[in-house]
Amino acid sequence: MPEIVVHSLPQPLRQAFSEAVASRVAAGALGDTVLGRPEWQLPERLAGELREALGMPSPVRGFRVVRGLFDALPAPGPTPAHWSAADPHDSAGHDVALALAARTLGRVFGWTDQQDGRIVHNILPSPGYEEMQVGASSTVPLAWHTEDGFHPERADLLLLACVRNPDDVGTRLAGIRDARLPEGAVAQLRRPLLVIEPDDSYEDEDAEREERIGMATVWDGEGGLCVRYDPSYTRRLTEDGEFAEAYARLSEAFEECGFVVPLEPGDLLVVDNDAVVHGRVAFRARYDGNDRWLKRVLVRAPRVRPGRERREHGYHQQQVAQERHLLAAGT
Ligand SMILES: [Fe+2]
Repeated sequence: MPEIVVHSLPQPLRQAFSEAVASRVAAGALGDTVLGRPEWQLPERLAGELREALGMPSPVRGFRVVRGLFDALPAPGPTPAHWSAADPHDSAGHDVALALAARTLGRVFGWTDQQDGRIVHNILPSPGYEEMQVGASSTVPLAWHTEDGFHPERADLLLLACVRNPDDVGTRLAGIRDARLPEGAVAQLRRPLLVIEPDDSYEDEDAEREERIGMATVWDGEGGLCVRYDPSYTRRLTEDGEFAEAYARLSEAFEECGFVVPLEPGDLLVVDNDAVVHGRVAFRARYDGNDRWLKRVLVRAPRVRPGRERREHGYHQQQVAQERHLLAAGT
């Protein structure tokens, strides 16, 4: 298990960032609107300092934990029971802080059909979802997966920020570069012999009727071996036994090298979505307003992916640009 280094934002930067967030919230900014107005962007110098302090996950580790982003923000209200019940005004400080921070790392986006097109997602347990393979589950472990593995324009960086986690429910990570895989298995997994469909957090009834364009599970990227993996929503396009064996071996390898990242309120986890798969341990939801509550933001900071991905339709899921909410912001 890799040592988990927690990077703390320097105090002067915390102060300057907190003040910048507070002034934007006072002016009416929300997580979904703050990136839509030029005057709400961070001053260049502050953005540069923040970007440097946040840093990019190293190619070796594939993740980074940063503490101090939510300092001095008013305590959020109770954890809602469903993402749609999260009032963007109630946690505007957290949402604005996360959106502004994410923007320093790349282009922020959401999905039209996910969480109503919001830019800042709410990840919390919801009644009725306990056993599903979505972020709102609880009593089942959330299986290893690449975020939005079904889409060629999926995030390069996945940002998870902890608002509340009184039961220390662990976020799990496993890196493809740590996975012990025989060369033969890697060679098999390079073959584009499966498709990943949108997960159940998307409003998409027609995914299984779409043309099946084979996807490779691993490939060589700039930082090393990369992965695209979501077995819960995968269909294999082959009966080949060697491929099946390699795919099963990959699952075992993630179990062997996987580890838990404990997240405290105010912690930001930045995950390289090409290098590391993520999941979550099982837990019993309280549904009393004190449940684990993460904020999620997706960032494109494009690296080279296999050229064949450009042929994919992505199940026609459309991205919502960070600027989409310009009109909503009243400009
Ligand atoms: Fe996820």
